[in-house]
Amino acid sequence: MSNQMTNPIVRTVASTQSEMTEIILPNDTNTLGNLLGGRLMHFIDLTGAMAAYRHSRTHVVTAAMDHIDFIRPVRLGDLLTLKSSVNRAFTTSMEVGVKVWAEHPQTGELLHVASAYLVFVAINKQCQLQKVPQLMPETPNEIRRYEDALRRREHREAESARRKEAREATDEEEDGAESKA
Ligand SMILES: CC(C)(COP(=O)(O)OP(=O)(O)OC[C@H]1O[C@@H](n2cnc3c(N)ncnc32)[C@H](O)[C@@H]1OP(=O)(O)O)[C@@H](O)C(=O)NCCC(=O)NCCS
Repeated sequence: MSNQMTNPIVRTVASTQSEMTEIILPNDTNTLGNLLGGRLMHFIDLTGAMAAYRHSRTHVVTAAMDHIDFIRPVRLGDLLTLKSSVNRAFTTSMEVGVKVWAEHPQTGELLHVASAYLVFVAINKQCQLQKVPQLMPETPNEIRRYEDALRRREHREAESARRKEAREATDEEEDGAESKA
């Protein structure tokens, strides 16, 4: 098989689609029997990583998890289904969207409970950044998500620069105060 076959330059969104289903057990819940937010974030991270892994076919690390909407609580005994796909690939990073549904075990009713965007970065075993294939959106929804992902990246970069500036200003203030003490 040629290298072009095993690692094509362009991949489709469909080839990155991933899915995970979990049953919510007592260990996953708080004292009210609702799924813990941190546990849900863990499931989201794992399902997101699967799509990024399928796209890059190398190791990936989570660089950012932004904008999670916890829309409705998930109850003990619910079946949780998470679906992910890559929205857009950049040079070494990929934005992945994850959508989560809870299924009532008795009625089968399916409710959308959360959505999130994550950024994964491709690295090799030596933790060196790796270039990822380009993504080819095909359907109108995929094209919309592809375009929105660029806007979110710009917003993320601006926010990150703003936080860095604020951090540096706080560090300078604290260093100044400590040297006077
Ligand atoms: C993510 C990480 C590999 C980036 O390394 P870095 O040396 O800062 O790399 P760069 O600044 O050259 O950025 C590399 C890519 O990551 C993206 N990136 C870096 N930090 C990011 C952030 N906070 N949010 C979104 N994207 C980010 C850059 O946009 C760039 O993407 P591109 O190549 O597609 O343009 C590094 O910060 C890291 O290892 N973080 C810890 C990851 C981790 O442990 N996650 C939790 C467990 S998996």
